[in-house]
Amino acid sequence: MRFFIFITFLLLAVPSNAATSSSQLVETLPGFPGKLPFTLETGYVGVGDSESVQLFYYFIESERDPDEDPLLLWLTGGPGCSGFSGLVYEVGPLSFDYAKSSSGEVKVPVLKLNPYSWTTVSNMIFIDAPVGTGFSYATNPEAYLVDDWLSVTQTHEFLRKWLLSHPRFLKHPLYISGDSYSGIIIPILVSKISDDNDAGIKPQLNLKGYSIGNPVTDVTIDENWRVPFAHRMALIPDKLYESTKRNCHGQYMDVDPNNAACSGDLQVFTECTKMLMIGNILEPDCVTDTPKPESLKWDPNIVKEDSLDLLSTGEHSEPWCRNYNYVFSYIWANDEEVQAALHIRKGTKKDWQRCNTSLAYTEDVTSSFPFHKNLTNKPYEVLIYSGDHDMVVPYVGTMAWVKSLNLTESSKWRPWFVQGQVGGYTIEYKRSNYSLTYATVKGAGHTAPEYNPPQCLAMFSRWLARYPL
Ligand SMILES: *[C@@H]1O[C@H](CO)[C@@H](O)[C@H](O)[C@H]1NC(C)=O
Ligand SMILES: *[C@@H]1O[C@H](CO)[C@@H](O)[C@H](O)[C@H]1NC(C)=O
Ligand SMILES: *[C@@H]1O[C@H](CO)[C@@H](O)[C@H](O)[C@H]1NC(C)=O
Ligand SMILES: *[C@@H]1O[C@H](CO)[C@@H](O)[C@H](O)[C@H]1NC(C)=O
Repeated sequence: MRFFIFITFLLLAVPSNAATSSSQLVETLPGFPGKLPFTLETGYVGVGDSESVQLFYYFIESERDPDEDPLLLWLTGGPGCSGFSGLVYEVGPLSFDYAKSSSGEVKVPVLKLNPYSWTTVSNMIFIDAPVGTGFSYATNPEAYLVDDWLSVTQTHEFLRKWLLSHPRFLKHPLYISGDSYSGIIIPILVSKISDDNDAGIKPQLNLKGYSIGNPVTDVTIDENWRVPFAHRMALIPDKLYESTKRNCHGQYMDVDPNNAACSGDLQVFTECTKMLMIGNILEPDCVTDTPKPESLKWDPNIVKEDSLDLLSTGEHSEPWCRNYNYVFSYIWANDEEVQAALHIRKGTKKDWQRCNTSLAYTEDVTSSFPFHKNLTNKPYEVLIYSGDHDMVVPYVGTMAWVKSLNLTESSKWRPWFVQGQVGGYTIEYKRSNYSLTYATVKGAGHTAPEYNPPQCLAMFSRWLARYPL
């Protein structure tokens, strides 16, 4: 097997800048002392017309049993957030050592191992998708234009090509996973893979299911649930909630400007909630002096990162803010030595951003619910989870659409445990050979594994092993 992979490497290894596929093993990384204790491969897969889109990825073999463990494709949200963000801040084997990285005059990012990596139970591909994200690039300007459908098509092509060049993993159980905006992409991608399999297209992908956290599902509905969420979280009083519900007829988005009673209530609602860090209402909101944009991005931290002076080395004042941690990814990934170690093609990207805020992207799918619905007729395993303190995609909205799939409850709502403590709550549903596990992650924010790593690894690995959570 190893030998075969080696040959594949030789065949695919081409001079840098050539628009085609390539992959390389990475044994060491700047900021991490010594050899990496896991197998990391990086590379590009060319997709689209004349492969004018080059999608970059990080592939990490399972640290348990790479030959037996499933293969997981991870899609970070945004749209436009890099695979590296998912890797280093959420579910990958490395994380920045905040204390060591910020101790000197000059910030030098130091990496450490994340014991709660999902690569302890699965082989994982972290992709920079869609084009324009992370290190992914296009060879002509038109090829940067992308929308939800094209994003799905390109990621689908990426996956097929990646598997063809890594036949060792073709038979592994395959799962698609991610969070936030990937809630729009994943159900469509899974449907495409499923349809291809049904149509007998070779090679057949061994698709087993998908998992999504705090998934954007129906843009209007997700946002609408922020009002009931704020009520349940004691951010607004009963009286205001009742009056808002009555005056706005339960519709809090795109309100009729002539409905003064509703607008008035929503103004009070905004006053009560606008100073919160909506990705996790318990955490400090760090940039309060810049006005927030009218429409909130799906990753609530993107906005705040933009207004941070990313390379300033001054001591940050109390309280500690989550987005200070993101600074290290910019310093690290824009470093020439790091890019050489990752085998980044020279001159393909001027600048690396954790989340590309100027992506040429059109959000043209307003709801992925119909795809979830259709998939309930297939023999897949699905895990939908919610960091329950997220107000961006609040758990109440996610629970509501899961319920409206009209599945049979196969296990009642109950707590699930990690180290003897309640990690969250779960309920299971079934329909024929389809099963859906819904779980909350207690106390976690929008990107749940970033907030509660041990709980999320326990949840994910139990689900993967088909144990009850
Ligand atoms: C962001 O995406 C746009 C087009 O989609 C691209 O031109 C730009 O270089 C990207 N920026 C970064 C920092 O990756
Ligand atoms: C769901 O399935 C039906 C019947 O096969 C099909 O007509 C419809 O287009 C599907 N919807 C989606 C969103 O895939
Ligand atoms: C679920 O069942 C309800 C009541 O029978 C029905 O109104 C609704 O359309 C169903 N939802 C879906 C997605 O099939
Ligand atoms: C469910 O799975 C079993 C065992 O694999 C199979 O025999 C059966 O046909 C499947 N049922 C449906 C409705 O797909």
